[in-house]
Parts: sequence; structure tokens; C-alpha cells
Amino acid sequence: MSGIKTLGQFIIEKQADFSYAKGELSRLLRDIGIAAKIVNREVNKAGLVDILGDAGTMNIQGEGQKKLDIYANTQFISALTSGGECCIVATEEEDDFVRIESPVSKNAKYIVCIDPLDGSSNIDVNVAVGTIFSIFRRKSTEGTATLADVLQKGTEQVAAGYVIYGSSTMLVYTTGKGVNGFTLDPSIGEFCLSHPDMKIPQDGSIYSINEGNYVHFPEGVKKYIKYAQVHDAASNRPYTSRYIGSMVADIHRNLIKGGIYIYPTTASSPNGKLRLLYECNPMAFIVEQAGGRASDGFNRILEIEPNELHQRASIFIGSEKMVRMAEGMMAAEYVEKIATIQSA
Ligand code: AHG
Ligand code: MN
Ligand code: MN
Repeated sequence: MSGIKTLGQFIIEKQADFSYAKGELSRLLRDIGIAAKIVNREVNKAGLVDILGDAGTMNIQGEGQKKLDIYANTQFISALTSGGECCIVATEEEDDFVRIESPVSKNAKYIVCIDPLDGSSNIDVNVAVGTIFSIFRRKSTEGTATLADVLQKGTEQVAAGYVIYGSSTMLVYTTGKGVNGFTLDPSIGEFCLSHPDMKIPQDGSIYSINEGNYVHFPEGVKKYIKYAQVHDAASNRPYTSRYIGSMVADIHRNLIKGGIYIYPTTASSPNGKLRLLYECNPMAFIVEQAGGRASDGFNRILEIEPNELHQRASIFIGSEKMVRMAEGMMAAEYVEKIATIQSA
């Protein structure tokens, strides 16, 4: 085993860095790692057993649920319940947050927000999917934890991560001291440190956006897309367009190669499509920790005050220079809009 560092070993080694509740947070991360392995096993045999396709149900957001959405949701809740460190799970797949009430979780200090299966429309066609999680410390000190404990700003996250079930399975996480990536070695059933101290390039040449929605995009985003498509050898343009449709996979690629991922407001999603608590916040925390940038086009994602469990946000995330350029174009559009209103 020399030279190999497992996720479990790494977490224990790093727990001295945690300023609070060292053992508990380590155990929570371990529980998430265990559930990820179980989900990975099922994702990998998806074509062989009756787990593909629609479950015939909808989540609160009116989106059809896949059987694997429900399976992954159950696995993560169950691992977090038996682990005993989590008092509330807020998940994409449940209308309300889930209060964990088991004898072992009586004094649990943590809240987990989770997208159990991200990009689930890709599952039936063998394309990479993921899991995204965000961890907060419970704020209230007495009674049972409440919605107010869940609705914390992204800056309050103590840890966040994602799992990508791709050509290999990886778990990437941060506790606010850089980002580390672990690849699942199926022969030993362990996540092993493969990408220590991940850094996103400051600039890149990949842009990821569902361009089919072009007509519904804000002017600033349209301008940025045109900018990305102009020939300019000095800035490596035209950029390459890559869009998988699984946020985890698109951002993971951009994290390694450099790039920008945008899901802006559109006519059908006036507040953006992606969910603040379990999609935007954790990915923003990871990307910032890797040296990148994440905003809603105007404001830092991590500083948005949440007021709803399934709140949505637009997101511009990735290499710092690219995100700043797109923000500049959004701001120009905003300034033009205000000028038009004032002159009317
Ligand atoms: P989920 O499967 O958890 O609902 O998330 C899907 C999200 C995200 O992963 C992806 O980038 C985006 O929705 C794709 O949306 P479009 O199909 O509208 O591009
Ligand atoms: Mn998702
Ligand atoms: Mn999902």
C-alpha cells in the first residue's frame, strides 16, 4: 500500500486543520464517501438491472424523478442517518428538509444540503453524472434544528464536495483549505488521493452553456458568447464549446483544463435553473478554493442570502479571468438598461 493515500487516511491526517468538531466532520465526510461508493456501484450496473428510466414521480420543482435519483437520495440519507453526525438533510428530491431523528444523531451538529444525482437525465445514455454536497454547522444551540439552520450563506460552508461517476469515479472536496481529488480504485474499493491541491487555471479556452437557449439569454451573456466565438490568436479565441448537461462533469472538466460554465437566467427560468443550496454554493466554494471565481453575473454566489430551500440562482463559474470578462459584459448590459429606463 506504500504511496497510496486513501480518503479515510487523508481526512484523519487533515482533521487537525479543522477549527471545530474535528472527529465529527471527519466522520461525516467518511459517511458521504461510503454512500458515494454504494451509488457508484448502482450507477455502474445501471444497464443490467431495472434501475434505468423514470420513476413516474415528480420532485417539488416539477421535474420528473429517475429511479436512480430516488435510489441515490435514499442511500445518502441512510448513510447520514446511521453516521449520526447530521441533524438535517436538505435534498433536491424532497419537498421539505429531512430531520434526522435517531438515537445516535441526538447531538448532531451538521446540516447537509445535497443533490444526490446531478445530471440524471444523462443516466439512461451512459453519460457522466454526479453528486454534489454542502456542509454547514448547525447555528441554533437548543431544541431541534430548523429551516433557519439550513438557510445559511455559502460563506458559512465548512465543507463541500462532489462525486463524479464518469470514466472513473472521483470524489473532490474542500474544507476551506484547498481542494483535493480522490479516484475510486475499484480493485480495493477505496477513494485514493490522485489530484492533491487542485488549482483551476486563471484563464482557459472552454465555454460551457446550453446555447439552445440563446434567444432567451440576457444581452450580457449573448455578448460573451459572441466574444468567445471571435477569432483572436492572442487570447486563444475562438474558444471551444463543451456542454455535457451534467453540471458536475462540466465544472470538473473546466476545473482541470480551465474554462467557464454559465447557467444564466432564461425566459423559462427567470431566476436561473440551478439550485443555490446544493448546486451553486458547493461548486462555488470548491472553485474559489481552487483559485477560480463564481458569481450570479453580478454578485459572488457565496454571499447570496438564501430565503428558500430550493432557491435558484444564475451562475457564472470557472477560471477567474473568464468569469470577470463575462461579469463585465453583464454589468455593461445593466448600465445600458438603467440608462434606457432613465431616458424614457
Ligand atoms: P439535476 O439532474 O440534478 O436536476 O441537474 C441538472 C442540471 C445540471 O446538472 C445541468 O448542468 C443542467 O441541469 C442542465 O440543464 P439544461 O438541460 O437546461 O441545459
Ligand atoms: Mn443537479
Ligand atoms: Mn439531481
